[in-house]
Amino acid sequence: MTASSKKGQRLNAPDARIGDVLVTWYQKNKRSLPWRQRFLESGDPYVIWISEIMLQQTTIQAVLPAYERFLGVFPQLKNLAAATEDEVRLACRGLGYYRRFRLMHEAAQVLAAREPFHWPRTYKEWRELPGIGDYTAAAISSIAFGEAKAVVDGNVERVFCRLLDRRVVPDQKLKKEFQAMGDSMIPASAPADYNQGVMELGQTICIKQNPRCAICPVQDFCAAFKNGSQNLAPAPKKPMEYEEVRMHLWLLLQNGKIGLVQRSKDARFLGGTLGLPTAWEKDGELRWEQAGRWDFQTEAFGSIKHGITKHRIQAFVHRKDWKGNSPAMTWVPLEEAETQLVSNLDRKALHLFLKLEAKPTLFDDQSFL
Ligand code: ADE
Repeated sequence: MTASSKKGQRLNAPDARIGDVLVTWYQKNKRSLPWRQRFLESGDPYVIWISEIMLQQTTIQAVLPAYERFLGVFPQLKNLAAATEDEVRLACRGLGYYRRFRLMHEAAQVLAAREPFHWPRTYKEWRELPGIGDYTAAAISSIAFGEAKAVVDGNVERVFCRLLDRRVVPDQKLKKEFQAMGDSMIPASAPADYNQGVMELGQTICIKQNPRCAICPVQDFCAAFKNGSQNLAPAPKKPMEYEEVRMHLWLLLQNGKIGLVQRSKDARFLGGTLGLPTAWEKDGELRWEQAGRWDFQTEAFGSIKHGITKHRIQAFVHRKDWKGNSPAMTWVPLEEAETQLVSNLDRKALHLFLKLEAKPTLFDDQSFL
């Protein structure tokens, strides 16, 4: 294959052998991952669907414990469809980007209501469900139903940029061309293995920095390898422009319990989650994340750093022994708070409190300490 690095020039057709080489490589080298194992044993598309939603914007390492926990709570589609939103959030705790799980829950309800029940099978049918984009529809329909539709995620873009020595940041137009290139390379005889193979190549061999070209199965087809330009293709993305945000979280204490509130659905950061009363600063004023507004006038005992998408958050953590009450408040025994808190931001605040502040004298009821 000859590559072109000239801007605007169309991609050349990839070597027809690449797809088969990737399939053979994957079949020999594939990692044993729980969703692969479960699908092999049960043939249930549900286990693939859940894994693909969790793997969106999240590393395999972070997904592994959450995946097992989730399937322990909701082993089948019907269990997920019958769950409350809070139960779903709790089962996905720690994974971030909660919108995807709300949409997954919505999709489960749509599917479970089908009379007679049938799974979507094709890329096109999966694409119609809430929360399923091009990438996820291609992954599920190929892995669970054998449709020859190629996946193009960030890892695959990097692999293709190198195969063609494209020293650019992939834009929408190039991504479209990569989709066509993947669709032309995917062997009809093994779409699941091709898709998982090309993703796995990007995750383990064709990695961002110092790719392991010496053991790459498609080295012979790689223009960047031939030109020694692996570290130039693709071009590095412009670094994210971060926005600094100052936030405040309160640990309200009453008889060994802490007060949690439901954040508003349209809150700026953690919409809909059950967590600590939270406000962020704007022009010197506090903007509250939940309906209740309290002016506690407390000094923070510490602060934590946390990232949510492009926001770099410094969250000041306060504690207050509060005698008041509010219908909006759910009082949870301190020792149970860890399992009730969905977001990592809340959990970091709780951990800081337990480390720095939780002294036996603070509580009327000390049995939990
Ligand atoms: N990333 C997203 N889906 C994946 C899969 N099925 N295998 C490996 N990595 C993935």
